[in-house]
Amino acid sequence: MGQYQAWENEYRSSQLITKNPEPQKDVLRFFKYLKKEEKKELSGLNILDLGCGTGRNSNYLAGLGNKVVGVDISKTAIDIAKNRAGEMQVSDNVSYVVGDIGASYPFGDNYFDLILDITSSNSLNEKERDIYIKEVYRALKDGGYFFVRALCKDGDKNAKNLLKFSPGKENDTYIIKELNLVERVFSEKDFKELYGKYFKIKKLFKKSGYAKFQNQSYKRNYWLAYMQKSSA
Ligand SMILES: C[S@@+](CC[C@H](N)C(=O)[O-])C[C@H]1O[C@@H](n2cnc3c(N)ncnc32)[C@H](O)[C@@H]1O
Repeated sequence: MGQYQAWENEYRSSQLITKNPEPQKDVLRFFKYLKKEEKKELSGLNILDLGCGTGRNSNYLAGLGNKVVGVDISKTAIDIAKNRAGEMQVSDNVSYVVGDIGASYPFGDNYFDLILDITSSNSLNEKERDIYIKEVYRALKDGGYFFVRALCKDGDKNAKNLLKFSPGKENDTYIIKELNLVERVFSEKDFKELYGKYFKIKKLFKKSGYAKFQNQSYKRNYWLAYMQKSSA
């Protein structure tokens, strides 16, 4: 819960995150992949949205007829997500929980068909990350999908500058001092080593995007990983 205050402050007075109610574009792309290449219907699934923020992806998925659980460390974000679910009339299909994705999860084994981590686990420390990955593995069904959008180190000038001038205590972390927020960036090798130990990485690609901070746009690189828990 080390980063709780930083995120709570961020939702009370946003400098970094978006409160856009539309689903994230990379998430929509992943759903197209599920439909076209994996022949998966995006309805009637149990879905867990880790670090759901104000619920833009959870509420969208609930509207498609899935049963969604959104977890976030910020109560302010969860309150916004719940209100939006009410406005969108999807409250019956989504439940929101204030919780820590770096601590054990209150869900049974093999429960979820799909788990999303949309730029949420970057601020976990290594000990919390170890719990997160084991808990995702445990809570995901055999054959279930895991979509991760994570901060990429490779070719990202902003990440390199932050690592050099504002390093955190752990490997490949930096501190955004204005927010008192620690973030971890991943090289391709580290990403594959971490996630490949538990999941089959079906597709991994790097994508550039823009992060807004204090009214300025910064080009950032992201990893998009489509993964599956194999039963073998
Ligand atoms: C960059 S935002 C992304 C929000 C959302 N996934 C989206 O796509 O809009 C990261 C989110 O992760 C949440 N978060 C960070 N650390 C967390 C933790 N340990 N447990 C639960 N949520 C966490 C933050 O509160 C924030 O809502």
